[in-house]
Amino acid sequence: MIPTTGRIDPLLSEELVRGRIQELGRQITQDFEGKRPVVLGLMNGSFVFMADLVRALDLELEVTFMRVASYGGKTVTTGEVKILHDLDCTIQGRHVLIVEDIVDTGLTLHKVRNVLLDRQPASIRIVTLLDKPSRRRVEVPVDYVGFTIEDHFVVGFGLDMDGKYRNLPYVGIYSPESL
Ligand code: IMP
Repeated sequence: MIPTTGRIDPLLSEELVRGRIQELGRQITQDFEGKRPVVLGLMNGSFVFMADLVRALDLELEVTFMRVASYGGKTVTTGEVKILHDLDCTIQGRHVLIVEDIVDTGLTLHKVRNVLLDRQPASIRIVTLLDKPSRRRVEVPVDYVGFTIEDHFVVGFGLDMDGKYRNLPYVGIYSPESL
């Protein structure tokens, strides 16, 4: 795909990402053996990762989604996190696996985790496809990380730039045209 503005340079190939998701799936399957987790995707960015991950989990599980907004638009964080769409199920006494596309400042997961902890789940674990630890503003316990990356703005595999490029089958670094 050729972007109409800016440039996208491949960072993680489709094969690499899919292979890593299979590995994560095996590890999470082992760790949750005998449990019936609620797998909670944070919309919109996690939908591609989530679809591949749940199919790599050999567990009896339920799927649910929560929609939060943390970015005002383009590539700048507003620092504010709003819950736009809440869960359609109760998580009290359940083992919850939160599925995130990327952990950047950590503000989104920090807030979501606190909201969910108030609902008294049996446990909460977090899996993210990508992690940018150099940008962290609050600490969050991330249990499973697909790939740790440098401080780049990335798109593809569900991640967007102002709503675009979620359908790229790989992860690429987005650079605005002016660079
Ligand atoms: P945090 O609250 O700063 O950790 O941001 C998490 C959310 O910001 C992610 O779920 C993404 O939606 C978005 N985000 C952070 N970094 C990127 C990026 O490099 N590309 C696309 N979206 C990003």
